[in-house]
Amino acid sequence: MHEYKSLIEQGKLEFLWAKYNMPIINKIVKKYQNKKVLEGFSLGICLHITKETAVLANGLKHLGAKIFLCSANPLSTQEHIVSLLNEKEIRVYGKRGETLDDFYNNMNVVLDKKPNIIIDDGGEFHKRAIQKKYKTLGGTEETTSGINRLKSWAKKKLITYPIIAVNQSNTKYLFDNRYGTGQSSLDGILRTTGILLAGKRVIVCGYGWVGKGIASVLKGLGAKVFVTEINPIHALEAFMDGFEVKPLMETTLFGDLYITCTGQVRVIRQEHMEKMKNGVILCNAGHFDVEIDTNYLNKEDFHPITIRKNLKCYNINRKKIYLLSEGRVINLVGADGNPPEIMALSFANQLLSIIYLSKHYKDLENRIYNVPKEIENQTSQLALQSYGIRIDCITPEQKRYFFS
Ligand SMILES: NC(=O)c1ccc[n+]([C@@H]2O[C@H](COP(=O)([O-])OP(=O)(O)OC[C@H]3O[C@@H](n4cnc5c(N)ncnc54)[C@H](O)[C@@H]3O)[C@@H](O)[C@H]2O)c1
Repeated sequence: MHEYKSLIEQGKLEFLWAKYNMPIINKIVKKYQNKKVLEGFSLGICLHITKETAVLANGLKHLGAKIFLCSANPLSTQEHIVSLLNEKEIRVYGKRGETLDDFYNNMNVVLDKKPNIIIDDGGEFHKRAIQKKYKTLGGTEETTSGINRLKSWAKKKLITYPIIAVNQSNTKYLFDNRYGTGQSSLDGILRTTGILLAGKRVIVCGYGWVGKGIASVLKGLGAKVFVTEINPIHALEAFMDGFEVKPLMETTLFGDLYITCTGQVRVIRQEHMEKMKNGVILCNAGHFDVEIDTNYLNKEDFHPITIRKNLKCYNINRKKIYLLSEGRVINLVGADGNPPEIMALSFANQLLSIIYLSKHYKDLENRIYNVPKEIENQTSQLALQSYGIRIDCITPEQKRYFFS
């Protein structure tokens, strides 16, 4: 018999499950909790509303911060987590499946609360804050696509407050983008389609950190993996890692499944889709829903049929093309997002960077900063401790040798 649970009950159970698997966050919160280091600060947070984000938000609240949350994607919000957060008096503006207008409007509503620190995932929230010439003490950015946008604004001298590039921390992208998104994207594909991956010819578009993770998990599951790239070094790396590298068009003859993770726009276009074989599956793990040209799929009358949640079939000239999660991040729309152990690392960087901003904002300029080295070290040490892993120390002789 199925046990019925209310949204809040489900939210509480999953929150506790995530918290249990994120001991690093608990350790940081315990360390700073008594001093209430974020008392008097209000935070505008635009992240995916998942159980892991709830653990971060709850930790920030325990440190004294006032929190206003909105979602980084209109399809990734988890309703049971919204209920849980609202019960904890952490206000969430947004719901799963909200319209694009509501999605953007919720960002404006959070900005209207006048947060002192802005936390974003993708750069859309920062863009609004900058356009509104909004006065804030500082901010952080969680993902590669957001950093790319910030860099282009920085070149035009548009950045109006200091922003810590959390994604650029080793303890973020080496683990979250690679191991986290590598696993959870495949989780999203499997939950959505239930297909067998062994023997499938899978094309990974982009061999950056996310692409490396996805390709490696696919290989482990027995798929035949092909990589497309525009960067010759990354292409060579994919080749030496044992993958076949080809131009995208050449793969259309045989590709069963395509996964985009480039951070670029219109990577899979009409000319590719026209050549692809019957029954091909397309999905995206990059931050924005721009990597697959869904305008082409949706523009003309291709009689889309929703087969099951997040699995749509388009009939194009008697050929079937399947699109997962509307071309939006498959790991967050089709599954629960990255695993809690991984988000503990990413959010330890966020948490410590927010505390750093609260202490140092007066000394910082209006530009992009890397995560301070001491924060990276603290995060990796806490992670090793949580896994019970000890490492060697450099000897005095080695130190002399190294610095001689
Ligand atoms: N789904 C998630 O949970 C999650 C997590 C982390 C990052 N991301 C997002 O995933 C995307 C990739 O992130 P990353 O950290 O791997 O970035 P990255 O910069 O390390 O890698 C992107 C790769 O794509 C390649 N590329 C660019 N245009 C291409 C094209 N037209 N065809 C083929 N290859 C192309 C680049 O040369 C590069 O090697 C970004 O949008 C990022 O924000 C998503």
